[in-house]
Amino acid sequence: MTEYKSFLKKSQGYIEKQAKLTEKSDFIDNKLFIKHNVNRGLRDINGNGVVCGLTEISEINAFKKDSEGNKIPCDGELFYRGINVETLVAGYQAENRFGFEEVCYLLIFGKLPSPKELDKFNEILIGFRTLPKNFFRDVSMKAPSTDMMNMLSRCVLTMYSYDDNPDDISLTNILRQVLGMVSQFPTMAVYGYNAFKYYIQGDSLHVHKPLDEYSIAQNILHLLRPDNKFTDLEAKTLDMCLTLQAEHGGGNNSSFAMRVISSSATDTYSAVSASLASLKGGRHGGANIKVVRMFEDLKANITNESDGAICDYFDKVLKKEAFDHSGIVYGMGHAVYSKSDPRAEIMKKLVEELAVAKGMEEDYFLYKKIERLAPEVIADRRQIYKGVPVNVDFYSGFLYKLLDIPPELFTPIFAIGRMPGWGSHRLEEMANNGKIIRPAYIAVGKRQKYKSLDER
Ligand SMILES: CC(C)(COP(=O)(O)OP(=O)(O)OC[C@H]1O[C@@H](n2cnc3c(N)ncnc32)[C@H](O)[C@@H]1OP(=O)(O)O)[C@@H](O)C(=O)NCCC(=O)NCCS
Repeated sequence: MTEYKSFLKKSQGYIEKQAKLTEKSDFIDNKLFIKHNVNRGLRDINGNGVVCGLTEISEINAFKKDSEGNKIPCDGELFYRGINVETLVAGYQAENRFGFEEVCYLLIFGKLPSPKELDKFNEILIGFRTLPKNFFRDVSMKAPSTDMMNMLSRCVLTMYSYDDNPDDISLTNILRQVLGMVSQFPTMAVYGYNAFKYYIQGDSLHVHKPLDEYSIAQNILHLLRPDNKFTDLEAKTLDMCLTLQAEHGGGNNSSFAMRVISSSATDTYSAVSASLASLKGGRHGGANIKVVRMFEDLKANITNESDGAICDYFDKVLKKEAFDHSGIVYGMGHAVYSKSDPRAEIMKKLVEELAVAKGMEEDYFLYKKIERLAPEVIADRRQIYKGVPVNVDFYSGFLYKLLDIPPELFTPIFAIGRMPGWGSHRLEEMANNGKIIRPAYIAVGKRQKYKSLDER
């Protein structure tokens, strides 16, 4: 390892020099995309996604048509198998119970479960919950990572070796693997975090076993907290977050990754690890951790919380002069939603209650201010076609913080929520015997003549 590190140090100059060369040779002038009518990011000139599939799993509405057929931005709506998520959440919350498991059933099987079907489904999930013998010792503890998404991906890929029938891509086998991962993701994620805390942060090691009588949300808190304690409000809030992150159409980056990878007829573990890799990105699920870090950076870098100071900060972020120098204000904007993201709207209602309960009203008011001001600054600096609403990740990170969930687990929690959605997309892709997804790229590079070494 030391030798490798010293080699890394020695080779750095070469890598930096060559990186400049790749930057030059990889740059493609934006004018060429326009000339060849290429929809960058698979989006048309108005920002609408290029249609490349059909799905019955979910539906997103961000526009309504007026009497003349013009598209008018409207408050966003999200439907899981035809049921508005707002109604879904309100429905099970009115019965004061956990709902994520029934949402998993709905997404995977296309209908709401009867009480008997839900009981049986829960029984199956509980059965799948236990990780293989010594998995914690041999996988989570062996090579701890500072990144829990990396750890989760490794756990998923390693599950292949524990599966007696990993490559069978029949729907029955895929369903078994999907249910296994819906059930095991929380343990894999939290155990990965335990190893990180112990080996990398030098903290004490607490390892709890999941409990059969707990829902998925309760188990996450039970596994995570050293004293196993949590309140009903905390568990129900987390349950709602999982529901709101469970699915978002076939076009979202990680589900599309699932569809692309599945269409090649690979195994479920490989396909899920691709979705995890996608979700990790800061423009996708990784935005929730970025939001919280950006918030801390804002607080550390403004002298007062006036509108002017906040706008100046975001102006700098957009100019790549502040925070992570990406030019992105995290938690704002969406590829589909125009006026509002319904998931953020639902979360917002709970954030205030929890912030007050945890004595963090000041942070809550600052979040509200950012919600009002940041979109104005973005709209000023960027070409926005449809609005730049706060998205699900703006409040989910803050909610997780209020739930004392460590930032390292923010994106893995999103992944736990999204696993039933990915599983449903894999099943739908495979059920329809789709063709391999294989779009085209127009080659715009110049031809070169090969020269022998002594001619160059
Ligand atoms: C989600 C996101 C990637 C969608 O991007 P998009 O589909 O290009 O969205 P739009 O078409 O509305 O964007 C129009 C322009 O505004 C920019 N923009 C949109 N939201 C932005 C943001 N939050 N910060 C900086 N620029 C933003 C886009 O990059 C695009 O610029 P370009 O034309 O130079 O490429 C983008 O809004 C974003 O980066 N948001 C922050 C990250 C985040 O919170 N992701 C979680 C999504 S749930």
